Amino acid sequence: MSVPSHLQIAIDGPAASGKTTVAFRLAQALGILYLDTGAMYRALAFLALRSGIDADNESALVRLWTAANVRVTLDADAPLGFRIVAAGAELDEATLQSNQVTAIVSTIAAHARVREAMVRSQREISAGGPVVMAGRDIGTVVLPFAQVKIFLTASVQARVERRRAQLLAAGDNISEHQLAQEIEERDRLDRERPVSPLAPAPDAHVVDSSSIGVDDVVSEIAGLVERAR
Ligand code: DC
Repeated sequence: MSVPSHLQIAIDGPAASGKTTVAFRLAQALGILYLDTGAMYRALAFLALRSGIDADNESALVRLWTAANVRVTLDADAPLGFRIVAAGAELDEATLQSNQVTAIVSTIAAHARVREAMVRSQREISAGGPVVMAGRDIGTVVLPFAQVKIFLTASVQARVERRRAQLLAAGDNISEHQLAQEIEERDRLDRERPVSPLAPAPDAHVVDSSSIGVDDVVSEIAGLVERAR
C-alpha cells in the first residue's frame, strides 16, 4: 500500500495491551517508520537509576534528559525499529525493559515538565515523514491530528498471560498474581495522573485484543488506514 507523506497513526493503550508489537508490525506492513514512545520514558528512568536521581525529582530529571543529549532516530533496520542513544551509548531492549526501570517509569512519566520535553521531541520526530507512534497520549496530545487513532485494550487476564509468556521466554518466572498486581498498579498510575492521563481520544477506534491475535489486529487497523486515505 502506498501511503501519503503526512500519514500519522496513533496507537495508545494500557501496559501490555500489545500496542508496541502491533505498531511495529503495522509500520512494517505499511513500509513506514515506527516509534514506541514508552521507550523514551524508560530511557530517562534508566538514566535516573544510573545517576542516583530520585523518580520524584522533576527538575533534576528534566536537567538529566537535556544533559544526556538523548537522540531518538527512526530506523527500520534497528532491532527495536528505532534507536535511542543517551550519553553516547545506544540503549537496548534488555536495559529499557528491566524490572528496575519498569518499577519507577510511571512515576517519572507523571511529571508535567518531563512530558513537555518528551512531547516536543516526539512531534519533531513525527515531522520527518509518515509514522506509527505507540504510547499513552499520542492520539490525545502528541499527534492530535493523526489520521488514524487506535486505543488498544485487552483484559487484565489476557495482558498478564502475554507478559508472563514474554518474561518466561527471557528466563524470568514471575507469578500471574504478582504480574496482575503490577499491571493494575501501572494502569492506575497512568489513568489517574493529572497530566495527560491514559484515555482514548474522542475520535479513537477502540480495539479489544483480548481474544484476537496480533495478525488480526494489524489487518483490522490496516483496513482503517486504507479507508482513511
Ligand atoms: O508502554 P510502556 O510500558 O513502555 O510505558 C512506560 C511508561 O511510560 C508507562 O508508565 C506509561 C508511560 N508512557 C506515557 O506516559 N506516555 C507515553 N506516550 C508512553 C509511555
